[in-house]
Amino acid sequence: MAERPPAQDSTPKAWSGRFSEPVDELVKRYTASVSFDRRLALADIRGSLAHARMLARQGIISDADRADIERGMTTIRGEVERGEFVWSVDDEDVHLNIEKRLTALVGDAGKRLHTGRSRNDQVATDVRLWLREAIDDILAAVRACQSSLLDLAEAHAATPLPGFTHLQVAQPVTFGHHLMAYFEMSRRDAARLADCRRRVNQLPLGAAALAGTTFPIDRESVAAELGFDGVCANSLDAVSDRDFAIEFTACAALVMMHLSRLSEELILWMNPAVGFIDLADRFCTGSSIMPQKKNPDVPELVRGKTGRVNGHLVALLTLMKGQPLAYNKDNQEDKEPLFDTADTLLDTLTIFADLVRGIRVKPEAMRAALARGFATATDLADYLVKKGLPFRDAHEAVARAVRAAEERGCDLAELPLDLLAGFSPLIEADALQVLTVEGSLAARDHVGGTAPRQVMAAIARARAALGTD
Ligand code: ARG
Repeated sequence: MAERPPAQDSTPKAWSGRFSEPVDELVKRYTASVSFDRRLALADIRGSLAHARMLARQGIISDADRADIERGMTTIRGEVERGEFVWSVDDEDVHLNIEKRLTALVGDAGKRLHTGRSRNDQVATDVRLWLREAIDDILAAVRACQSSLLDLAEAHAATPLPGFTHLQVAQPVTFGHHLMAYFEMSRRDAARLADCRRRVNQLPLGAAALAGTTFPIDRESVAAELGFDGVCANSLDAVSDRDFAIEFTACAALVMMHLSRLSEELILWMNPAVGFIDLADRFCTGSSIMPQKKNPDVPELVRGKTGRVNGHLVALLTLMKGQPLAYNKDNQEDKEPLFDTADTLLDTLTIFADLVRGIRVKPEAMRAALARGFATATDLADYLVKKGLPFRDAHEAVARAVRAAEERGCDLAELPLDLLAGFSPLIEADALQVLTVEGSLAARDHVGGTAPRQVMAAIARARAALGTD
């Protein structure tokens, strides 16, 4: 068993007045959160300053106390920003560490700061402030990814790519059209995050421990100073629920899921047996034993880290599900999954924006795969239907033509016209145009279709929306 470190601190805890024996050393470490919640320090200081100013405006503390608190907090913020603040596990969490330092700096005013407030509404406020900023950074990174996707899609709005179903060549699409599918997913991701932000951006402060406070506080003014859209309407709900963090993590899991799907495709496309694209060297690594290898490490890690974010979502849902109202210490466990989700998502998006910019497309390989896969077979069937043949009969005629092409080892378009006509007398010279990849693409000329001019139109709409979204 690990040896326990000796008790170091004999100063009483902020709440120790009621207790008759000191906390066990392991229990102290077990219950402390300062090792991770110190990330909330700047949000905590902002929240405390807004609270102190409100207390002074309402005549609950003196203006001199407010000035002392502001002076002390300015010093503390500097210490935190320079990495000089001395964090102590003896003071449990970020809130008590800062309050203790404040009191050391400015005396009694520091002890008055906590009037009309509890760590329960304080921590809920800090997490919301922190998450709001994280969402804004993430949304900027989503936009960077979207603009990379749009640039690549535009360059390849007409580049033919085999569209797959069941991971087999199905019909031609353009590479730009394929990328625009991910753009659409990303657009919904961004809308979800922006919507989630509205529910994050409500002020819990004023709920105090759970029931509100007897002091004549002004919550609206605190909300306005901190940039919240409004105040949480019920004190019990304000201190207890972490649904906003769960919702964010669910949004993050969806973003990661989409990026994971694209990663899977990049990995497949980069496989030498497929060879549709190459990734820039800076996103790949070599093998220590096989000199020929160039491994797509970054997309593989994106795929892997998606599991990690999914795990955080399940952790947070599970954290919440058994909790009675109102605040329970369980909620202290919300922070590590939440922080790691935001970090993972921001890093992934930031890397992905650059990864997409570094994709080298190999159109010849895409075209060769299209020919091997008889990608225009449906077009020939549609051609026969337009000449009056029922679709099922057309399907049958083309299936026989595909078998013939397969036996000869050529594409449908390479079969001699008289041979093709043998499968249906309706097949005439104009069928050959239908069988070309370009003809197939151009024919899907409606909103949402893969015709290059539709892809260009979709990109133009997306660019316009990106400016306004
Ligand atoms: N560190 C705690 C948390 O993260 C702060 C709230 C503690 N409140 C309490 N009554 N123990 O949730």
